[in-house]
Amino acid sequence: MSRVKTLGQFIIEKQSDFPFSKGELSRLLRDIGIASKIVNREVNKAGLADILGDAGEINIQGENVKKLDVFANEQFIAALSVGGECCAIASEENEDIIIINNEMSKNAKYVVAMDPLDGSSNIDVNVSVGTIFSIYRRTSLHGAGTNEDFFQRGTEQVAAGYVIYGSSCMMVYTTGKGVNGFTLDPSIGEFCLSHPNMQTPKKAKTYSINEGNYVHFPDGVKKYLKYCQEEDDETDRPYRSRYIGSGVADIHRNLITGGIYIYPTTSKSPKGKLRLLYECNPLAFIVEQAGGKATNGFDRILELDMTELHQRTPLFIGSSDMVDVAGDFMLKYSSVEALEKR
Ligand code: AHG
Ligand code: MN
Ligand code: MN
Repeated sequence: MSRVKTLGQFIIEKQSDFPFSKGELSRLLRDIGIASKIVNREVNKAGLADILGDAGEINIQGENVKKLDVFANEQFIAALSVGGECCAIASEENEDIIIINNEMSKNAKYVVAMDPLDGSSNIDVNVSVGTIFSIYRRTSLHGAGTNEDFFQRGTEQVAAGYVIYGSSCMMVYTTGKGVNGFTLDPSIGEFCLSHPNMQTPKKAKTYSINEGNYVHFPDGVKKYLKYCQEEDDETDRPYRSRYIGSGVADIHRNLITGGIYIYPTTSKSPKGKLRLLYECNPLAFIVEQAGGKATNGFDRILELDMTELHQRTPLFIGSSDMVDVAGDFMLKYSSVEALEKR
């Protein structure tokens, strides 16, 4: 008989990795698991929104139907607010942090940063989307959570993960002791351990970037892309290009099969597009824990200083050899001025 291990069982088992833990982090991960199951349910019927009108919840024009990113944001905020283990949330969908100030949460130890729905341009076209989360221990001593609680380097993350709402729904997370992946079995409504101790290949041949922005890329990225496209038997080039436009899905595929995902600066977004706090840091923590690397083209993502809540950064993430080579191109083809500014 095969023994299925659920996310809940796994979390309890792993609690002993943290000898002084009282189970708060485990409960926080459980709360995130619950919210993601609800979001998955809605994602699965997204195409039905216009024809399933009943009980005033949704009308036939879909007017009362919330956009999935707003819905996901509300679900995660609700789960984290009633869970009692989180005293503040930073979300892509909210300009300011959300302070959770109820009796249960005000002295909670953790704060959570999240991108509730990543890949929002893919919502309406049946392509995978995701949720990204990052957990820090608060730095304020007690009472309500504060802005400063989020101004920590990525190296301080206690846990991070993503959920991918794809052909199946998966949760992948790390607490700094490797990466484990769980697939939702809809028949029992449980995430089950399907990808224990995930490791990403060191070498690979997939690159993921929005090449439509080519003219706006820095020279290092342009030259690296040309390198990926050159013919060379020894290094098995040209490489293959894969870009979904949902960072979680692109990075999840590359995590499993190997590859590099790049969202560089462009002349339109001189600081890059992706956000450090709730996109790049959590994804970097996971990929590093799986043996990969993540940089802004030069420096390690997890060591960047947080200066603004919604701060952006370029991202080069994936198989370590590929990130290293892309980094070499960046160094070689950047002006001294650009290197000093970085
Ligand atoms: P979000 O949907 O949370 O705004 O994030 C989308 C991000 C990332 O997931 C994706 O890889 C990238 O933006 C796509 O951007 P382009 O359409 O500019 O390629
Ligand atoms: Mn996103
Ligand atoms: Mn988003």
